[in-house]
Amino acid sequence: MKKIICAAILIIGFLSNSKAQIKKKDIVAKTPTNQLAKGKILYAKHCVVCHQADGGGVMGLNPPLIKTDYVLGDQKRLINIILKGLDKEIEIDGETYANPMPGLSHLSDQEVADVLSYIRNNFGNKASIISPAQVKVIRASKTK
Ligand code: HEC
Repeated sequence: MKKIICAAILIIGFLSNSKAQIKKKDIVAKTPTNQLAKGKILYAKHCVVCHQADGGGVMGLNPPLIKTDYVLGDQKRLINIILKGLDKEIEIDGETYANPMPGLSHLSDQEVADVLSYIRNNFGNKASIISPAQVKVIRASKTK
């Protein structure tokens, strides 16, 4: 009898453990890794022509995205750059950039979040992930 109970406990243990594993997999599918992979594809489609594959930009024309205050700093400002573009003289690494960047407001909240999370965690950058919910709030607000 004891043996049967032992076996039953083992089986239950095994079953609940495998269930836990499935759950873990589901979670992995939704983690930033997936967001970053999508961001990489979006970067290649929407940003690479100007900011280049290594994020180094083109000197005097398009600024680099490597450890700049814009990429790593204020998330609201960063989200707005994608939604509304940027048209002012800025200085990065001692170089002045004055060309305008067009807004890319046709990108969805998810796409903006993905591409920004990608640039914030690439080219030697390390910063928090940006969520679609954050983009949604900023898109809806009128302030810059
Ligand atoms: C047509 C060229 C072009 C495209 C496409 C473009 N940018 Fe830009 N980007 C610029 C220019 C030019 C500036 C500087 C604007 C200024 O000086 O006002 C800039 C500025 C920036 C900045 C702030 C400055 C810095 O270097 O940190 C960020 C961040 C940025 N772009 C990210 C992106 C991302 C992400 C994409 C794609 C979703 C993108 N850009 C697409 C040309 C472009």
